[in-house]
Amino acid sequence: MKTILVTGSSGLIGSEVCRYFAREGYAVHGLDNNQRAVFFGPAGDTRWNQRRLEREVAGFSHHELDVRDRAGVLALVRTLRPAIVVHAAAQPSHDRSAEIPLDDFDTNAGGTLNLLEAARQACPESPFVHMSTNKVYGDGPNRIPLRETETRYEYADPAYAAGIPETFPVDQCLHTVFGASKVAADVMVQEYGRYYGLPTCCLRGGCLTGPAHSGVKLHGFLSYLVKCNLEGREYQVYGYKGKQVRDNVHSFDVARLIHEFAKGPRGGEVYNLGGGKGNSCSILEAFRIVEDLTGKPQKHSYVPENRVGDHVCYYSDLGKVRAHYPGWQVSIGLEETMRQIVEAWRAKATA
Ligand SMILES: NC(=O)c1ccc[n+]([C@@H]2O[C@H](COP(=O)([O-])OP(=O)(O)OC[C@H]3O[C@@H](n4cnc5c(N)ncnc54)[C@H](O)[C@@H]3O)[C@@H](O)[C@H]2O)c1
Repeated sequence: MKTILVTGSSGLIGSEVCRYFAREGYAVHGLDNNQRAVFFGPAGDTRWNQRRLEREVAGFSHHELDVRDRAGVLALVRTLRPAIVVHAAAQPSHDRSAEIPLDDFDTNAGGTLNLLEAARQACPESPFVHMSTNKVYGDGPNRIPLRETETRYEYADPAYAAGIPETFPVDQCLHTVFGASKVAADVMVQEYGRYYGLPTCCLRGGCLTGPAHSGVKLHGFLSYLVKCNLEGREYQVYGYKGKQVRDNVHSFDVARLIHEFAKGPRGGEVYNLGGGKGNSCSILEAFRIVEDLTGKPQKHSYVPENRVGDHVCYYSDLGKVRAHYPGWQVSIGLEETMRQIVEAWRAKATA
């Protein structure tokens, strides 16, 4: 039986990948230490998702380990010699990173290096997928001229009509500590591909979302927004008139792409991965969708100052990933994704 190692297995992406590859017949090993609860407090706790995997996924093994534990990571990878490594453990928030720069960098950059080096020593032939982020582009996309509509911003420059491509520069801009630690990891994943020849790739996520997200104010935009709506809580909009645009992709579609890469891996690649323009929305548009789904008005307030480094408008150009993996496309639309998130929060509230 083939084995997959998934870090961050109790999180949104990790848990979806665990379920997906279990259905594909893999023995699934998850690595997580519920660090999300340390980063974000009890609302970020992902133990519920770990328990669900242990309950529902046959042959799932949980490893309580910190990716910063270099010796522990090496020992685990040596023991398992996994056929695929998916790295989804991270400190994922801009704002939080400013308060904990050392933990952020040690987790995002150091943890990634620990895993890469363990893979190089134990399973250098195994596809290695790293969850990177569009924040590697820093606030560079904010320099693109925009057009403002009643509910959102759009790129006015026709060069970006399809979104941001992978050729967009990553340096000489403001990243936040989180963006910088993810750049370090992203470049190292590329280097292990190019220099050492490992079949690695970075998926530079836009908004990755889905019903398994433990959304909190500082991370998990749609999940947190839906939670606020259902609980009648106020959602705070930070700047840009609520017209800031994100492209949203369901975690299931992320898992599907990881499978495509594992079947036909390349080395040192980077792909932008979001829902593309078709699955994009502004915060104002997201309010409207959730209100339609739940029938409840979205309470919100407005803070004029935007979050540091926050994109005004971002959607991924999916051209490269579609060209390399024509079997993949966005299969779940934005409204269906939000419907599933509504359902999941309702189920959690009554559990
Ligand atoms: N969700 C998004 O919108 C988004 C967007 C772009 C990129 N990404 C990236 O995708 C990846 C997965 O994101 P997610 O939304 O599933 O995050 P998540 O917070 O839901 O899951 C991450 C998991 O990693 C675990 N973890 C964190 N630090 C750890 C450590 N030191 N040791 C072991 N486990 C640790 C957490 O406990 C959590 O369960 C991250 O790398 C993130 O930066 C996410």
